[in-house]
Amino acid sequence: MQLPAKTFIITGATSGMGRGIAERFAREGASLVLSGRNEERGREVAAHIQEQGGKATFLPGDISLPETNHQLVESALENFGRLDGIVTNAGHLGLGAVTDIQPDEWHYTFAANLHAVYYLSHYSIPVMQEQGKGVIIATASIAAYKSFPNHPAYCAAKAGLVALVRQMALDYGPAIRINAICPGPVDTPLIWDSARAFPDPQKAVENAAQTTALKRLGAPQDIAALALFLASEESSWITGTAITIDGGVMATR
Ligand SMILES: NC(=O)c1ccc[n+]([C@@H]2O[C@H](COP(=O)([O-])OP(=O)(O)OC[C@H]3O[C@@H](n4cnc5c(N)ncnc54)[C@H](O)[C@@H]3O)[C@@H](O)[C@H]2O)c1
Repeated sequence: MQLPAKTFIITGATSGMGRGIAERFAREGASLVLSGRNEERGREVAAHIQEQGGKATFLPGDISLPETNHQLVESALENFGRLDGIVTNAGHLGLGAVTDIQPDEWHYTFAANLHAVYYLSHYSIPVMQEQGKGVIIATASIAAYKSFPNHPAYCAAKAGLVALVRQMALDYGPAIRINAICPGPVDTPLIWDSARAFPDPQKAVENAAQTTALKRLGAPQDIAALALFLASEESSWITGTAITIDGGVMATR
């Protein structure tokens, strides 16, 4: 096991990559505080992990609010007595070109993708500093580097997230390692939401798979394997970077 006796908070853990990361981390011995908005799904994920012999608790909430993030850190300390890392995975698309998207949706997209990472980092870093060690893994996107039609708020927020990760790595090293993951098209509910911005969503998802050199969508398990590497001692000299995991999409540019 690669994460024995470690405690992690994982946001957006009720579906897609977050669920994949949670299940993988639990199998590697980590105790987990899972966050999400859908209470029923969250409790189901935590129960599934417990049935498999893992340790997980679920706390519902909206991560675009500071207090939700504060409560997650408190829950880690109350339930498991420590906090070794956070995976800020939750994300929101906020579709619409600049002339279409309304200010509330623009701000919410930044709050869910970028401000939430500041909030959870703000509350968790002092705990990890006190313990002398910690890791932060932030799920950004290739949208940080590449434009997608009708995704301006999402692309800008993910680009900001990559910059935030670089900055925090300098501010909080050497004790805390901080990295971003930039996935390409991964088969989760979010990619189908994203496809709604295209005239033929089914075709858009198929095309997304074909834009990869490997001719398939990623699976949540592919992303979980990278998150595990970044969370483990195997990556002990990696910080302040954003690792693209996209089946080769960016290689075509
Ligand atoms: N699927 C892709 O192709 C793809 C590509 C690049 C990056 N990403 C990023 O990967 C991450 C995980 O997404 P996914 O693809 O697994 O999709 P997903 O829809 O399965 O997961 C996103 C999760 O974030 C949660 N979430 C969103 N806003 C929230 C809020 N305000 N409060 C609490 N939870 C909130 C959602 O409820 C959901 O569970 C996201 O950050 C997304 O932007 C996805």
